[in-house]
Amino acid sequence: MPAQTEHTVDPERLIGVLDQPLFQAAERVAARMGVKAYAIGGYVRDLLLGRPCKDIDIVTEGDGIAFAEAVAKELDAGHVHVFKNFGTAMFMLGDVQVEFVGARKESYSRNSRKPEVVPGTIRDDQERRDFTINALAISLNAEDRSALIDPFNGVHDLERGIIRTPLAPDVTFSDDPLRMLRAIRFATQLGFFIDAPTFKAIQRNAERLDIISAERIHTELNKIILAKVPSIGFKLLLDSGLLVRFFPEMIELLGAEEKHGIGHKDNFYHTLQVLDNVAEKSDDLWLRWAAILHDIAKPKTKRFEPGHGWTFHGHEDKGARMVPGIFRRMKLPLDEQMRFVKKMVLLHLRPIALTKDIVTDSAVRRLLFDAGDDIDALMILCQADITSKNEAKKKRYLANYEVVMEKLKEVEEKDRVRNFQPPITGEDIMQAFNIKPCKKIGDIKTVIKDAILDGKIHNDKAAAWPVMLEEGAKLGLTVVEGMEVPPISGSSEEVGSQES
Ligand code: CTP
Repeated sequence: MPAQTEHTVDPERLIGVLDQPLFQAAERVAARMGVKAYAIGGYVRDLLLGRPCKDIDIVTEGDGIAFAEAVAKELDAGHVHVFKNFGTAMFMLGDVQVEFVGARKESYSRNSRKPEVVPGTIRDDQERRDFTINALAISLNAEDRSALIDPFNGVHDLERGIIRTPLAPDVTFSDDPLRMLRAIRFATQLGFFIDAPTFKAIQRNAERLDIISAERIHTELNKIILAKVPSIGFKLLLDSGLLVRFFPEMIELLGAEEKHGIGHKDNFYHTLQVLDNVAEKSDDLWLRWAAILHDIAKPKTKRFEPGHGWTFHGHEDKGARMVPGIFRRMKLPLDEQMRFVKKMVLLHLRPIALTKDIVTDSAVRRLLFDAGDDIDALMILCQADITSKNEAKKKRYLANYEVVMEKLKEVEEKDRVRNFQPPITGEDIMQAFNIKPCKKIGDIKTVIKDAILDGKIHNDKAAAWPVMLEEGAKLGLTVVEGMEVPPISGSSEEVGSQES
């Protein structure tokens, strides 16, 4: 668990904030309608911590929807979105989302998210919120304007960095089991400590997460992954018993087996180290997902080979093939982002594998061709994957990594294969041999591509043309008269000498 730290909570931060037009309008409407209104929840928490916040929640002791409509009118705020079933309404004020709800006593039936709603007081509303730090309210009413209403010592918990439920944790978690995951999310994002009774209740109730939708789970999980040090969250997810409920493949990574005195590293903790390393270099959620999944198939490919030790042959390929299934189950996007993660998992060994031999231009060109525009992301993942405890080994790998980086730069400048465009199109081939679309065109293009990637010819039309003619002849094609020379000029000198 993260070390408990003191946090600066500054009530001075409240001064001035309440002068903004939204809160002044809310105060006027509250007085006119004879109801009480409060700013509440994450907005108040973030205000006290000095964190930026783009959502403002306002709760009224009365009809939240009517209140929202009156405030919107007062501010000329445009369209109010009403969610009748939930008794909530919201509108946008610039880029700030303002949400209104009537205070309520609420209890969720045990196995669904369908709430039974009964109107209540601000106190009722505060006690049915998830954590004391999220149950703070500021009065928007003339009589006690800007007073902080804090019945559960939320400010104290903010200062001490403690996540604690306002009611007995079993009650709070049974109202909405997602809150168990939220506790870990806040602990990770804020560097807070989960109070022991609250954490024990999570362990006790972990299986209740099963009634929560995959979408709600991945929304919280992604926030953990995007935190500064995501491993904090994953360790808590493991210890709490939540991780196994929705990500059993990750649990499989745990443990370091030993045979004949030879062990292998614990791939769960290695994965977390790689994730933290990537997080230091990149805020890209999907590259962080690639870090989480890069070794996911190690348990499935693990073998002990006598005389050699532990091997995980093909784990990058099998791992890439596991990505769609995991994304589908977690209801993560199945398009471009998933394809990116899959590609990263598949290629993650390639840059370092390069250094096992002498780094040839042709191997680097093939890596650039396969990674395309994702080469920089792949190199971040590859560097992050160097986690050996053996300092000498680590140093050697890092030095090799630098060699590959240099070569990549050099080859890219020279050959520009990152976004490879074939210098000879299918159209060119059809015209040159006067043929219709057929498999032979693809075969010729492949030979040309390989010749370029192997450094046998330059990446241009003039160099590729003779290769096309030669390959066409091998396939029994006859060149159209006048097409023996390429339509544009250029050099076709051999570049095999570039190999180092
Ligand atoms: N809340 C809750 N139980 C939940 C979700 C939300 O009690 N399962 C309450 C909390 O008071 C929370 C507020 O609703 O502060 C707003 O929720 P949300 O916008 O999801 O979270 P924030 O606390 O605002 O944090 P963030 O903006 O980082 O998501």
